[in-house]
Parts: sequence; C-alpha cells; structure tokens
Amino acid sequence: MRDMTLADLNGSPGEEYTLTYSDGSSRKIFVADREVPFPEGKLIVSRTDPAGIITHMNQAFVEMSGFSEDELIGTPHHILRHPDMPSVAFKDLWDTISKGVKWHGYVKNLRKDGAYYWVYATVVPNIRGGKVVGYTSVRRKPSRRKVEEMSALYKTM
Ligand SMILES: Cc1cc2nc3c(=O)[nH]c(=O)nc-3n(C[C@H](O)[C@H](O)[C@H](O)COP(=O)(O)O)c2cc1C
Repeated sequence: MRDMTLADLNGSPGEEYTLTYSDGSSRKIFVADREVPFPEGKLIVSRTDPAGIITHMNQAFVEMSGFSEDELIGTPHHILRHPDMPSVAFKDLWDTISKGVKWHGYVKNLRKDGAYYWVYATVVPNIRGGKVVGYTSVRRKPSRRKVEEMSALYKTM
C-alpha cells in the first residue's frame, strides 16, 4: 500500500499522519476535514478473506472510497482506516467476527482523497463446513444523530 501524497488531496488542506496497522506495516496519510455524505438509497458492500484482505466489492464501494477496483482487490481492508477511529472498535470487530458472530458498528472511513465518510456497518462471517472462510460487510447510511454521538464517543476512547 503506497503512502498518500499531497496530490491525492486534490487541493484540500490536509493534516499529515503516519498510521501503523496491526500487521506491523505503516503508511503516511493526509486527512482533510471534509465529509462526503453517504449516497442515498445505496448499500456499500465488500468481502474479505479470513485475514481481512479485500476480495470483492460493489460499485458504490469503489465510488465512495475513491480507489479503483484494481487498487482495492488484494489489499488489506485497513486501507480505509481513519486516524479518528479508536483501535478498540476494530479489536471488538475482530474478536466478534472471528468467533463466527455478526458485528454492527459505526465507522468513519478515510477516502483516497483524504476526505471521510461515516457508515453503519454490519459485518457477517461467511461460514462453510463450520469454518470461517471470509467476511462480508454491508454498510448503510447512518443517522446524523448517531454520527454525532459516535464521533463524540470515539474522541474519548
Ligand atoms: C469485512 C470487513 C470489512 C471491514 N471494513 C472496514 C472499513 O470499512 N474501514 C475500516 O477502517 N476497517 C474495516 N475493517 C477492519 C480492518 O480489517 C482493520 O481491522 C481496521 O481498519 C484497523 O486496522 P488495523 O487492525 O490493521 O490496525 C473491516 C474488516 C472486515 C473483516
């Protein structure tokens, strides 16, 4: 996964961070204080292998993330991690889904251009022959009230 550059921001002002992911890799990102609203009437869907590597996505995912399908397939899902997301939220996600249990939660995602979008995600383990063979995440538009509540809560975590 390549570092972001100022050119990715398309002219928006951005703040620089270096994120270190749970696999030990790290990436330089630029974050713009600009929200892109969740598209009305759409679902954003992706699928991963058991390690969280993206294997499939729908067109709404491509459009909202700003990455091309080629950039996304085979890439860890943490490509969308926003520095405002507390790592305990993802620990809860993985502790839940790796047991074969469905997880729901509010997630602030980072786009390729440094802007962000909020989603309400449901992550479902795909089980075959009693084994988790991957995960599917379906994201809906979150209510404004919940986004405000979760945004304030995540700042305290
Ligand atoms: C099906 C699925 C979908 C996921 N969707 C997202 C997502 O939209 N945004 C995100 O930041 N992390 C998502 N994750 C969690 C990432 O795998 C990762 O745990 C998270 O970005 C934090 O990165 P890190 O654990 O490498 O530090 C998803 C995981 C799975 C299994």
